[in-house]
Amino acid sequence: MKKTERRSQGWFGKTGKDGLIYRSWFKKQGIPTHELGGKPMIGICNTWSELTPCNSHFRELAEFVKKGVLEAGGYPVEFPVMSLGETLMKPTAMLYRNLASMDTEESIRANPLDGVVLLCGCDKTTPSLVMGAASVNLPTIVVSGGPMLTGRYRGTEVSTSDIWRFSEEARSGKMTQEDLYVAESGLCRSDGHCGVMGTASTMACMVESLGLSLPGNAAIPAPDTGRKVLAHLSGMEIVKMVENDLKLSDILTREAFENAIMVNAAIGGSTNFVIHLLAIAGRMGIPLTLEDFDTFSSNIPLLANLQPSGSYFMEDFYYAGGLPPVIRQLKDRLNNQAITVTGQEIGKINERFENYNDKVIASIDRPFNTLSGIVVLKGNLCETGAIIKPSAASPELMKHTGKAVVFEDIDDYKNKIDDPDLDIDEHSIMVLKNVGPKGYPGMPEVGNMGLPPKVLAKGIKDMIRISDGRMSGTGFGTVVLHATPEAAEGGNFAVVQTGDLIELDVEQRKLNLLVSEEELGKRKAAWQKPAAMTDRGYVSLYVKHVEQANLGADLDFLKGNSGSEVTKDSH
Ligand code: FES
Ligand code: MG
Repeated sequence: MKKTERRSQGWFGKTGKDGLIYRSWFKKQGIPTHELGGKPMIGICNTWSELTPCNSHFRELAEFVKKGVLEAGGYPVEFPVMSLGETLMKPTAMLYRNLASMDTEESIRANPLDGVVLLCGCDKTTPSLVMGAASVNLPTIVVSGGPMLTGRYRGTEVSTSDIWRFSEEARSGKMTQEDLYVAESGLCRSDGHCGVMGTASTMACMVESLGLSLPGNAAIPAPDTGRKVLAHLSGMEIVKMVENDLKLSDILTREAFENAIMVNAAIGGSTNFVIHLLAIAGRMGIPLTLEDFDTFSSNIPLLANLQPSGSYFMEDFYYAGGLPPVIRQLKDRLNNQAITVTGQEIGKINERFENYNDKVIASIDRPFNTLSGIVVLKGNLCETGAIIKPSAASPELMKHTGKAVVFEDIDDYKNKIDDPDLDIDEHSIMVLKNVGPKGYPGMPEVGNMGLPPKVLAKGIKDMIRISDGRMSGTGFGTVVLHATPEAAEGGNFAVVQTGDLIELDVEQRKLNLLVSEEELGKRKAAWQKPAAMTDRGYVSLYVKHVEQANLGADLDFLKGNSGSEVTKDSH
């Protein structure tokens, strides 16, 4: 259906004082009158920032989007929103995801835009922009920045996933500080976001499997010419979407969310996927639960052999064909009729893509692992759920009962972990409290806490670790995350003590604290809520309103959609 009445004409199409104001200042950028006569006005929402190194090439990328918009007869307008750099922001970029989403939402709604292109790259820049745009519901397309080229260290291929290995090797004395300087200089050697199936690549795959980008968006490396071409084609596509009035609500259906969960399982995507997809669904008013992640990811085999679950890098994934051949191979499972930004069905649009390397992308009948996806655990240690990524865990630890070694918060962990007298061995279960959304605050990626040196010295690389926090998408291990209710809420997780027995059984979906109800009741009665870190500003607002991880950790008042209409003028 063609739409000819433009939202932007509610500004530029006005006569009298209001139209005069809207047009005259806008024209100072060198815009002739006829450009404002009803062309689709396309916002290019840019997260470029030198403080977000993963998105530092976005000014150039935006120029290619503009070429496409102009070619298709639209008018491009680029604007900035808050950019979240994963590696520099303290205490964690996640604290600001919801704030950036508010910036995105209000910037889109308040301005004369008919459609939006979201330029997303580093981890949180994708969910924050999609969440914000979802609450406005204009025609919207995502262009991801693309992964980095594979890193190099003394002749070997490395990635940002090796950060964890390098830091353990430095702690155990195998690497010197000099070695680390050499390593860090080759890890991030080109434009782009982390070059493994970490959170950024997971998010790029999420938007592609939701139908929010052109096919192929997820894997094209940032420096590859194909990335610029994709940006150009996306610029053309958004103009068509505006003309056809193809809005986010037409694409982000329950079926699309189910597809994204299945695809995430097949690629071994990051655990952060859970919290971000729940938050996006919340903005769309789509009922999606934590349990859906287990239901729709169980029985999906692991098809992508990518770090941290496998061996290869995003660059290899691109050369093997990227996400489209994965989606094509899942056609018997997916909701193939889900509509994408192209207006075509996801099943149809991916059917022509081939797999060029079966070492990187397996065929569905000979997968790399029958274990994939996200397992949702329940039990008295996590009454509203916790998650684990079995493809990143050690098979021998998936069913284990051990003694808890509890760290009350991150400082307690840092103070104790290197102590040779710490009573801990490889059979112990490490528990880290107060790293949840309210407790830290912001739910940082510390869940895959490093092992004690005396265990590392035995050559042991994995232990069970449980927390109410998150883990980097580049992390791995038998790591139980997002335990809810978090410790700061005062449930059983708040009162687990060193020496308690904990039972983990991934196959049975169980996580239990083997302590009597009576004893737990006593401990909870004596528990005291930790004092708030601050009573002012955004952080205070966040702590008062953030929901638990099993609901997506959005602010409670941001759930849902306010539409794109603004009825009042400004002067
Ligand atoms: Fe930006 Fe990994 S730090 S994507
Ligand atoms: Mg991260």
